[in-house]
Amino acid sequence: MATIGSADSPVPGQPRQEAAEELEPEPPYLDLEALEDRSRELLPAPVYDYYAGGAETETTMREATAAWRSWRLRPRVLRGITTAQLGTELLGTPVRTPIGIAPWAYQAMAHPEGELATARAAAATGALMTVSTSANNSLEEVDAAAPGSPRWFQLYRLHSERHTDDLARRAGDAGYRALVLTVDVPLLGRRRRDMGNDFVHRAGVRMANRPPEGEEPTLDGLATATWTFDEIARFGELSGLPVVVKGVLRGDDAVRCVQAGAAAVWVTTHGGRQADPSISSAHALPEVVDAVGDDVEIYADGGVRSGSDVLTALALGASAVFLGRPIVWGLTTGGERGVAGVIDGLTAELAHAMVLCGLPDLRSLPRDTVTPAR
Ligand code: GLV
Repeated sequence: MATIGSADSPVPGQPRQEAAEELEPEPPYLDLEALEDRSRELLPAPVYDYYAGGAETETTMREATAAWRSWRLRPRVLRGITTAQLGTELLGTPVRTPIGIAPWAYQAMAHPEGELATARAAAATGALMTVSTSANNSLEEVDAAAPGSPRWFQLYRLHSERHTDDLARRAGDAGYRALVLTVDVPLLGRRRRDMGNDFVHRAGVRMANRPPEGEEPTLDGLATATWTFDEIARFGELSGLPVVVKGVLRGDDAVRCVQAGAAAVWVTTHGGRQADPSISSAHALPEVVDAVGDDVEIYADGGVRSGSDVLTALALGASAVFLGRPIVWGLTTGGERGVAGVIDGLTAELAHAMVLCGLPDLRSLPRDTVTPAR
């Protein structure tokens, strides 16, 4: 059995720590493939595979970026636009960029400072961070690393209902601005790489938001009994926060989420780590937007790798776009600076794409900015 670190050895991110300084990439951190290649060299192979891998044949994961690129921009000219404003509000919270950080687990495996470095980078760039239930630092510790910056808490159903409810309340008490319910994990997807590596998540990794060892199974055993639509309003009341439902790929589901009290819907394939092959976020997004109209905010993630991919998602109706693996590789190779570099790099690229398309701000982003590629 491959164990990743142990109780008395460093956290799994540490074997490559001494190399971190010298390996910090230079801005603008836009060669995302190079960041991933470097991460593959730095991380223990099972850890790299855990982050990089998808479910079953990894078809969803492989198709994600190409799906955004199945759209083409339709630039507007002679509009006198030379700069673009990227500030916006997400559920009423001001952010400096519509590019946010998706929740991802066990960040101390990528870098010794884990979620704390990501939180500081988010604060520095004015980006919204979504903190995972499976974080290595507690949600209160993450808040303390960058107090007051825009942050949401992602909630998984744990086997202990009492503990799950408690996490929802703690997120509200700690100043998180929304609760993100992940609903696409009634079972963990079959990730063949992890199965082949016999990847053991918890060895040596502190899961600060989980109940003590013994009371709670690992991620592999998470949420074998799933939530229903009724939980949306219940968690809203418990936490006192708006509820974002993450993991929706169908218009009819999105409508039911909104009817059940969701403040926002997050279109995602969970990085291609759950149902595979499933529809891509880029193809599901227009259906979801058409189904719910302007009633709620809609977000998207999955395979976004350029400013123009972001612009495509925004034109299709997303209020924000979230990054997963690019942030993993940024954190692995450059810690706080790497994460900030990835966000700043893609934000600058988005601004550039907007000016090239004659778009001054995020309010003026009609869907006819994009058309299917022919
Ligand atoms: C957790 O959400 C995972 O995809 O591993």
